[in-house]
Amino acid sequence: MSNSSEAELLHTFKGIPFTTRSSPELLKSLDTFDAREDDLLLVSYPKSGTHWLAGVITKLYNTQVTITSPIEFGDISQLEQLNKLSSKRIIPTHLDYNMLPPNFKNKKCKMIYISRNPKDTAVSMFHYYRDNPNLPTVDSWTAFFDLFLKGNVVCGSWFDHFLSWEEHEDEKNILFLFYEDMKKDLPKVVKEITLFLSLNVSDSDIQDICKKSSFSEMKNDTEKENSDPTHTVCALTSNRKLIFRKGAVGDWKNYFTPKQNIRFQEIFDEKMKLSKM
Ligand code: A3P
Repeated sequence: MSNSSEAELLHTFKGIPFTTRSSPELLKSLDTFDAREDDLLLVSYPKSGTHWLAGVITKLYNTQVTITSPIEFGDISQLEQLNKLSSKRIIPTHLDYNMLPPNFKNKKCKMIYISRNPKDTAVSMFHYYRDNPNLPTVDSWTAFFDLFLKGNVVCGSWFDHFLSWEEHEDEKNILFLFYEDMKKDLPKVVKEITLFLSLNVSDSDIQDICKKSSFSEMKNDTEKENSDPTHTVCALTSNRKLIFRKGAVGDWKNYFTPKQNIRFQEIFDEKMKLSKM
């Protein structure tokens, strides 16, 4: 459990809390980052299934691709490293649409946004706050619930993040996915991804990829790996062992009180009134 204070671990950039693993200099220079037309972005609010999606995507290619660290991770030298990569880049990010380097938008790079029921996201993030030494201490679920609803958590408000991306849902270069759909029928979602990426993957290979991407397989693989502090899929940790907790839909029911559920629903209805969700 983390016992460092918020002030030591977080800083705010353009109104959004980041951990000190994202340096202010790097965040400032994102606007001038040079995208390549074949870059693929994997976008998510934390705890929405980023590692799961990344695990699936890397298994789809039979050409040389590199899944990089998130574009907002590290100091300014990370951007130079990204520039030097010769292979196709698959770049994860937790950035809000408005903070995304404009070059990715201008070059119409493909982007996949994965989203998850915000109630389950909140519970998953609560555990992440407790287990991840890069995040501030949180005393209780009740305290975290309030922080989450106010958007006073790393990466800011779930609602703002989702809405900033949903506004661009109809753009052809952006694919929207839901964690719950992946749980329900992973082969179907993987097929959708292959069509979006124009990849030719047989149905039997898709079945095989889905087996290798199950929660238990991915968790087991992670137990055997040694973590590399310089590489990560989530800017908030390089320790993949913190990721594979429960992998379930509906865990929020074990945490939300009836009163919290009503309050969440009221705020959800208000914030999402213009959303198609
Ligand atoms: P829980 O904390 O609810 O278990 P992210 O990768 O964005 O940090 O998301 C982490 C969440 O995705 C965790 O949720 C984790 O267990 C879940 N997850 C990771 N791999 C998964 C898989 N193969 N199948 C289902 N859920 C998975």
